[in-house]
Amino acid sequence: MSKEKFYVTTPIYYVNDVPHIGHSYTTIAADTLARYKRFKGFDVFFLTGTDEHGQKIQKAAEKQGKTPQELADEVVLNFQKLWERLDITNDFFIRTTSGFHKWYVANAFEKLFRKGDIYKGEYEGWYCVPCESYYSDLEVGEERVCPTCGRSVDRVREESYFFRLSAYQDKLLEFYEGHPDFVIPETRYNEIKSFVRSGLKDLSVTRISFDWGVRVPFDENHVVYVWFDALLNYLSVFSHPRNRELSYFWPADVHFVGKDILRFHAVYWPAFLMALGERLPKHVVAHGWWTVEGRKMSKSLGNVVDPNDIISRYPRDAYRYFLLRNVPFGLDGDFSERELAERINSELVNDLGNLVNRSLTMVKNYIGGEIKKPERINDVLLEEMATTSFAKISEAMERFRFDDALFAVFEFVRGVNKYITDREPWVLNRKGKMEELSLVLYNLLCSLKTIAGMILPFMPDTAAKILEQIGMDAVSEGLKYSDFSDFYSEESFRIAEEWDYLFRRVEIKDAKTVDGDPPEVDSMESRISVEEFFKVDLRVARILEAESVEGSRKLIRLKIDIGEKEPRTLVAGLKEFFRPEDLVDKLIVVVANLKPAKLMGIESNGMLLAAKDEHGVKLLTVDGNVKPGSRVS
Ligand code: MSP
Repeated sequence: MSKEKFYVTTPIYYVNDVPHIGHSYTTIAADTLARYKRFKGFDVFFLTGTDEHGQKIQKAAEKQGKTPQELADEVVLNFQKLWERLDITNDFFIRTTSGFHKWYVANAFEKLFRKGDIYKGEYEGWYCVPCESYYSDLEVGEERVCPTCGRSVDRVREESYFFRLSAYQDKLLEFYEGHPDFVIPETRYNEIKSFVRSGLKDLSVTRISFDWGVRVPFDENHVVYVWFDALLNYLSVFSHPRNRELSYFWPADVHFVGKDILRFHAVYWPAFLMALGERLPKHVVAHGWWTVEGRKMSKSLGNVVDPNDIISRYPRDAYRYFLLRNVPFGLDGDFSERELAERINSELVNDLGNLVNRSLTMVKNYIGGEIKKPERINDVLLEEMATTSFAKISEAMERFRFDDALFAVFEFVRGVNKYITDREPWVLNRKGKMEELSLVLYNLLCSLKTIAGMILPFMPDTAAKILEQIGMDAVSEGLKYSDFSDFYSEESFRIAEEWDYLFRRVEIKDAKTVDGDPPEVDSMESRISVEEFFKVDLRVARILEAESVEGSRKLIRLKIDIGEKEPRTLVAGLKEFFRPEDLVDKLIVVVANLKPAKLMGIESNGMLLAAKDEHGVKLLTVDGNVKPGSRVS
């Protein structure tokens, strides 16, 4: 049977700027998925590249006294070098100034013109150069600013070709109807649907006020709109001589994009494809936006995070881990070096590094570094835990939830650490219970092998190190996913004579306690009477609806059923920890008699209870089905 194919893409990056954490995030996510799918036996094509046309690039080049091509040729190297340093496994790197791509775009444009999907007219409206986007009077408002980035927009009035987007409104809605997973996450899908439902206008797809772009083949005055040009990269790539045999990869399985460019991918792109008679991608997955230490990243603030700088000071695997673990994929994230250091110290050093080191030390000291599979395996706890974790990882990856997958990996890691504490191999050694000891140590080595398999797509260097330390060579042995998911596949292990720690502890210099020290609960004065406690009316509530509050980094608006006639509105600071759709239907505990408070102009009636530790926030729920409104005491 031939292998199942899988095609994953990143957006192609503008070359007016150097790569930063946001770019590396999308690329690392796509790389992780590509590695995961290859590991699972898929035939994978992973594409990334650069978007080199448009007014923005032309202006940036002019400022630097260069031609746009010179600028592109220079900046593209920054992206290519960074991807190399991060060990990104893209199968091809596309540049929109390449001949094959320009040819493809010109052809597609002409085809749509001949078909009548593109026609000539006049455009009058607003244009935002940084976003390379058109807006109406209504969208730019009285202030005349871009609704996406807030910068001022230019009034444009010129002859233009238009793509008949309006003709695709119903077809798009019909397509969305039949493909409930086309856009992920769901909340963003809803925004896209309501945007399309509110009416689509034809889209200007050429410009005459500058010339840095693909020329319209039958009208030399016009260059093709940069987004029409750029989106086609996902298809044009198969017209490159090296990739001609690979067109079976289309349609793409996943386009990863930032939330800011979702509309282009979820509305314009499918409409262009419908017009061209091509099949539509399976998923467009939108991730959130990274801020730095709570602030928007910007050159003027001087807080742009250069991934090169981070990976020259921390292992690149730690950077990959942090990005994918720290933020639920789809939500906004905040980068702080302190949090990166904390994750390294707690999970990578304490949980994982320590587990590997202590296991190897015991194998070396107690049994000389070599072990054979025991004849009788009557302790399969770790095998069972591994199976559960693999299932969770697989489910999470199907839904592009990298954070959940990593959580499941570390659940297993912590489980193995607990196994050591419970089985006390040092006691078995002291008492000379060699058979039992061998079984425990064999279980541990099988677990390390399993962990290497689990983290391989996320932290490839670390996976390779673990395998080397336990005496397995992933590359030359051509290991496959099945070797890892079969827990007891190894007949024997001979571990390395010496090994290095996987990760080094990082000093957290600017450590500050954000929430203050916990209050002294033991002093009698701070205790309250039961009457005082009962003043707090705690109730069980069911979450009926959840939606993110636009413009807020933290807030989610909830509609809850608390046993009253009408549902209540409650606003909670959960956005950094939960996707709104994951909250729906949860039974939570709410302080019901709190005075209403206004948050971002929304009245909140109550407060939900939640607990926070270094792994994130968890809601207080009840352990069975209780009627909403029930009292908690
Ligand atoms: N050239 C277009 C994409 C064309 S795809 C056919 C473009 N380029 S970009 O360089 O501006 O942005 C590329 C990607 O980087 C987008 O997905 C964007 O969301 C992402 N990011 C840019 N800044 C970001 C953050 N601060 N945080 C997370 N991702 C962000 O748009």
